[in-house]
Amino acid sequence: MTAPSTPPTPDAGSPPALAVDELARDFGGIAAVDGVGFTLRRGEILGVIGPNGAGKSTMFALVAGSLKPDRGTIRIEGVPVEGEGAHRRVGRGLARTFQIPRPFPEMSVLDNVVTAATGQSGERVLASLLAPGRVRREEAAARERAFALIRFLALDHLADRPARVLSGGQRKLLELARALMAEPRVLLLDEPAAGVNPALLDFIIERIAEINRRGIAVLLIEHNMDMIRRLCPSVLVMAAGRPLASGTPEAVMSDPRVVEAYLGGSVH
Ligand SMILES: Nc1ncnc2c1ncn2[C@@H]1O[C@H](COP(=O)(O)OP(=O)(O)O)[C@@H](O)[C@H]1O
Ligand SMILES: [Mg+2]
Repeated sequence: MTAPSTPPTPDAGSPPALAVDELARDFGGIAAVDGVGFTLRRGEILGVIGPNGAGKSTMFALVAGSLKPDRGTIRIEGVPVEGEGAHRRVGRGLARTFQIPRPFPEMSVLDNVVTAATGQSGERVLASLLAPGRVRREEAAARERAFALIRFLALDHLADRPARVLSGGQRKLLELARALMAEPRVLLLDEPAAGVNPALLDFIIERIAEINRRGIAVLLIEHNMDMIRRLCPSVLVMAAGRPLASGTPEAVMSDPRVVEAYLGGSVH
């Protein structure tokens, strides 16, 4: 990654990094996501908020391709991808983190990040027989990249430790490193602050801001409104699967419909 000193200017003539329209998915008659649409421009951060059960994680799964939509369109840099699998979408520059990180617990922190790049062990075995030198060089390069990422995320002192020793917050950082290994242009983050202690929270906010400054567009699901306010010029509010409101964090949080949707929930 190179670090421009000024934020990238939105590309007026080019398609948005991610464009979602009329996305919908039912689970046994319950509309988990029902007509959601938004546009994420290159280098932009868009927050996604809403009470538990609003459909945020389901919307992510639809965008990432781990779940098929019943209807709607998803375009990555102008290319419709709703018919493609998750792996193809990663190849198009889309990466995601999960709300609940699931690292390989006995594998080292570094290897957890390396394997995010080389998931296809069957292909690798064949390639290592046919071109052992090239595979070794690629693996060395992947380890170097993985190490740079865990250093960027302050996990380098834990590189050789099994992932099971990580705290909840460190697991979030590992999850972020794994997603960055794909060199995404669009990053989907599902509650990166959940269960993170306040000291680490500031660090995670600062790192997400830095990732974004380097030109990666970010779609950020988060309950922590401090994080949303500090990172997102604009947010989409979902409730009961539907898009309820959008605008600046201040504007949506003072919208009576949003306050109503959150009644009984916890928003500050
Ligand atoms: N795999 C699933 N099978 C059945 N229902 C699901 C599944 N995943 C999510 N749901 C339901 O879809 C709705 C939206 O859930 P979710 O997307 O997890 O919301 P959020 O992330 O906003 O809390 C909820 O009612 C949830 O129970
Ligand atoms: Mg969720």
